[in-house]
Amino acid sequence: MPTRKKFVAGNWKMNTTLAEAKALAAAVAKGVGADARVTVAVCPPFPWLTAAGEAVRGSAVALGAQDVAFEKKGAFTGEVSPAMLLDAGCTYAIVGHSERRHVLGESDAAINQKVHTALEEGLHVILCMGETLAERERGLQERVFQRQVFAACAGLTDEQFARLVIAYEPVWAIGTGKVATPEQAQEAHRFVRGKLRLLYGDKIADATPILYGGSVTADNAAGLLHQPDVDGALVGGASLKADSFLAIVKAAQG
Ligand code: 13P
Repeated sequence: MPTRKKFVAGNWKMNTTLAEAKALAAAVAKGVGADARVTVAVCPPFPWLTAAGEAVRGSAVALGAQDVAFEKKGAFTGEVSPAMLLDAGCTYAIVGHSERRHVLGESDAAINQKVHTALEEGLHVILCMGETLAERERGLQERVFQRQVFAACAGLTDEQFARLVIAYEPVWAIGTGKVATPEQAQEAHRFVRGKLRLLYGDKIADATPILYGGSVTADNAAGLLHQPDVDGALVGGASLKADSFLAIVKAAQG
């Protein structure tokens, strides 16, 4: 059995003041310290990246951004390039979050371009995917996973795959308190890993971490994280309090 290191990332979304971001990042850094049994990352809003990066410096906590531009530089008003994120101290960028797909209209093609640009520039990518409630009710989830994985990963090299993390986030579970059952998560993750195996081979399928996201809390994390294909969690609401986020990290360590 391949052993994949567990990974817990906090997606703070459009929350926190500067002071709150600094305090939250510092508290997470203090709680995790140098313990690297689990990969831990925090993803604050863009303007707080540098300050949060300073707060986690010296700890095992990595810094991630919530999005990244699809081009490397130039006349793209409002966009933030991978090089800027690296300069700000980021290791990771979330790409294709469902709020960007469904609220802001990002296409699979745009997401593929972002994945390529970010990986070419040296970032690690947390690629989000998952079905909506309507898609699940119509039994379309596997078709959606196949399309999203295939579209987002098209053209990646093996070396780039080594810096890709997938996050399965069923849209109906995000911010709703309706968490997928451990069995539902395992079934989806196994399907996605199977697609990776078919499309890209055993090495990539066995090495790529697949995180679950959607109403993960300190109470339900352990059940999800014990599933064989669930390699960690992408946490929204529960990452905004150090205590609950650290409890999820602890569940991943156990
Ligand atoms: P919640 O944990 O708030 O449901 O958000 C999940 C998410 O979207 C993480 O990216």
